[in-house]
Amino acid sequence: MRILGIETSCDETGVAIYDDEKGLLAHQLYSQVKLHADYGGVVPELASRDHVKKTIPLIKAAMAEANLTPADLDGVAYTAGPGLVGALLVGATIGRSLAYAWNVPAVAVHHMEGHLLAPMLEDNPPPFPFIAVLVSGGHTMLVEVKGIGEYQILGESIDDAAGEAFDKTAKLMGLDYPGGPLLSKLAEKGDSSRFTFPRPMTNVPGLDMSFSGLKTFTANTIAANGNDDQTRADIARAFEDAVVDTLVIKCKRALKQCDMKRIVIAGGVSANRHLRAKLEDLAKSIGGEVYYPRTEFCTDNGAMIAYAGMQRLKNGEHNDLGVKAFPRWPIDTLKPIKA
Ligand code: KG4
Ligand code: ZN
Repeated sequence: MRILGIETSCDETGVAIYDDEKGLLAHQLYSQVKLHADYGGVVPELASRDHVKKTIPLIKAAMAEANLTPADLDGVAYTAGPGLVGALLVGATIGRSLAYAWNVPAVAVHHMEGHLLAPMLEDNPPPFPFIAVLVSGGHTMLVEVKGIGEYQILGESIDDAAGEAFDKTAKLMGLDYPGGPLLSKLAEKGDSSRFTFPRPMTNVPGLDMSFSGLKTFTANTIAANGNDDQTRADIARAFEDAVVDTLVIKCKRALKQCDMKRIVIAGGVSANRHLRAKLEDLAKSIGGEVYYPRTEFCTDNGAMIAYAGMQRLKNGEHNDLGVKAFPRWPIDTLKPIKA
């Protein structure tokens, strides 16, 4: 079985072809970073228009890369939510229409399920069950995962997502959009003993998180200490330490609560080296393991959508002829996949 996957939920156009026997056959990605850079963040209308321009050429490129024709495909999967409604509608319209023209089923994929399953594309995929630390630009969640579609949200951010906090703090520090990776790079040169930022909501029970206060803390620290190169690096380090420590403390709690030792990290912030290292330390301390996708599949991509779509199609799920997008779509409403 071979599936074409299309991702257009935010500022990346991703297209991939996944084969259930041979694995990933093609993977094409176009990032809109330059388009939005002047505005310091994603401009939804510009994102939608750019997806309109890029999706079909990327599909053609993926088909050429895999040396396939439409007759070789068994289905089309597209991200239907959560995300920016206009951007989602581009992928949904193109995906649904192509599936109709090619006379194959179409399946709507949940973007965060795509992220959650991205480590399954690696050589050493995580066995179920596990605790997923889903950290992207739009969502931060701790999820108990017993199987595909068996998701229980244990806790989530009550305000900014971890990636959003990285991006907003980076902007405040004058770094370009998207600031997360740049802030993390700056933090490498920082001295972690100079400033200590709070670890929000770690002194209260439960698994919810809050990251928005760290922006204010950053702004106040800049105001009090200036903005020279070393101070900026030290502040970036203190911010990163605070986000990473908070996620590690909450993840440790989630593992204990569910009596588990296996951790999966996915979503854009799972590319953060410091977060990976600290979660590896946590796993080592309890005799557990950590799994994450290769760096290019941490952020948005078509491969994770093709993979998730394949699982859903194999489960007999597919869509009617309507083109639908779901800007808000809770992950715990997805159907469990029969074993
Ligand atoms: O999963 P993703 O590509 O898009 C969403 O679904 O939101 O995540 C993008 C987010 C951005 O906020 C970006 O700044 C963050 O992931 N990010 C990072 C790193 N790489 C990407 N944050 C911290 N450290 C990184 N190395
Ligand atoms: Zn994403």
